[in-house]
Amino acid sequence: MQIFLDSGDIKQIKKWLPFVDGLTTNPTILKKDGYSIEQILKELPEGFPVSLEAVYPFEEKAKELAKLGTGVYVKIPLLNGDGSNNLEVIKRLSDEGISVNCTALFSLGQVILASKAGADFVSLFGGRIEDEGGDQFEVIRLASDFLFESQSDSQIIFASVRQVSQIAGAQDSGAHIVTIPPAILEKMLMHWYSKETSAQFERDARG
Ligand code: E4P
Repeated sequence: MQIFLDSGDIKQIKKWLPFVDGLTTNPTILKKDGYSIEQILKELPEGFPVSLEAVYPFEEKAKELAKLGTGVYVKIPLLNGDGSNNLEVIKRLSDEGISVNCTALFSLGQVILASKAGADFVSLFGGRIEDEGGDQFEVIRLASDFLFESQSDSQIIFASVRQVSQIAGAQDSGAHIVTIPPAILEKMLMHWYSKETSAQFERDARG
């Protein structure tokens, strides 16, 4: 399973870049972290996988974003706020060779349609699935089985990570990638007994 960083904070991007396989952002993250897409792209090596979210008009904006670098995956929501959908947009972009990350997915049915439309990444929002009483890992497991059995090239990104324990669940249920906020990466580092063990060795090394 690959690890992406879910952040738009340049300090965090610089810190974690050597240890992650890609970067994801969304409009909420960009608003919170306060950096522009151009500023973020300057920090990334050419070809580094980065997901940037298109807004309305999706097709036009997606094409503009795709021109910003060879590693750009354009994030397109399957469904819009008014209930209309972007299936045909995703299909056209994918047919043109633009890499698409179909985002804000919550169900197997949505993953099936996004993969059939040609999305390279299908982003399932684990934390938000759980928010409304769903079983995040069951959805991942079903999606993973479907993609394997249909020999699809789409890869599952497990997104909306709020706890370290979700990472083990994502791996176990078959996600290809998990995108992790910096605060959770910090928590992954930590274990009180590692700290205590090192403290013991440091004490004993002093004699
Ligand atoms: C990443 O691609 C998603 O946009 C992000 O993980 C969503 O996380 P949230 O549900 O915590 O907003």
